[in-house]
Amino acid sequence: MDGLIQGKIAIITGAGSGVGRAAALLFAQHGAKIVASDVDAAAAQATADAVRAEGGTAIAQACNVAVAAEVDALVAVAVENFGRLDIMYNNAGITIQPQPGQKLKRFIDATDHDIDKLFGVNVFGVMNGCRAAIRQFEAQGGGGVIVNTASVAGLIGYGGVVYGATKGAITTLTRALALELAGQNIRVNSVCPAGMPTKFTAFSTSDMAVASMAAAHPLGRAIEPAECAAGALFLASSLAANITGVNLPVDGGLTAGIPLRKPG
Ligand SMILES: NC(=O)c1ccc[n+]([C@@H]2O[C@H](COP(=O)([O-])OP(=O)(O)OC[C@H]3O[C@@H](n4cnc5c(N)ncnc54)[C@H](O)[C@@H]3O)[C@@H](O)[C@H]2O)c1
Repeated sequence: MDGLIQGKIAIITGAGSGVGRAAALLFAQHGAKIVASDVDAAAAQATADAVRAEGGTAIAQACNVAVAAEVDALVAVAVENFGRLDIMYNNAGITIQPQPGQKLKRFIDATDHDIDKLFGVNVFGVMNGCRAAIRQFEAQGGGGVIVNTASVAGLIGYGGVVYGATKGAITTLTRALALELAGQNIRVNSVCPAGMPTKFTAFSTSDMAVASMAAAHPLGRAIEPAECAAGALFLASSLAANITGVNLPVDGGLTAGIPLRKPG
């Protein structure tokens, strides 16, 4: 049986860890050829190796998404190796990691450097990925899929203020860009995960214990990276052929509302 994205060429940024690595494995299991990309070259290579160890097709490419020229080069590598691009998954993202034993920084304490860095990776990184992909999709005559990893922090107030502002930029970009590109049959959607136990939340042991992370989700547990990747796979696949401009929560019900009584 063909996979959901059989034969599609997919770039995944931030593929060296967490959601990106889970997506590389899942997309390959569903038939895609993967360009696993990360600012950490060794981590990207490890992901490509893991895909190949399962019988999939993958290459690795180092890329800092905050640098437009590197993202353009990333798309060029996909085209050189596989002939085209079908799916651009802009997943790489960062947060401000507190020092061990310290709490998340308040907005008022964030430095200009913190703000530049977060917007550079989380917002410019996604914009760079979208622009490079759109140029390639247009050169191919239209069609194509963009998926972004936003966050529940792009839908509601949740955790760090600057981080939330970057993710709000992604959810708005997703809607507006979907409208701009609909005429070319280029779909643009985002996944909005809630708390996941990845490197990204490694600081949680001091600030937001795993147990409280789980308790925050009505379904009673944190989100697995593979569950977020599954949302991205759905949006990237032809099952979502008539879905664009959507910010899909993968959040165990966190953004559904305020429960008036305990679930169960
Ligand atoms: N973990 C969570 O609780 C959570 C919640 C909501 C949203 N997210 C989002 O999910 C996405 C993936 O995060 P994760 O949890 O898998 O984190 P992670 O830290 O495990 O993985 C992120 C990967 O991105 C890479 N990366 C960092 N900066 C980069 C850059 N400039 N260019 C290219 N790659 C870069 C890192 O090297 C790492 O391999 C991010 O966009 C994050 O904002 C995470």
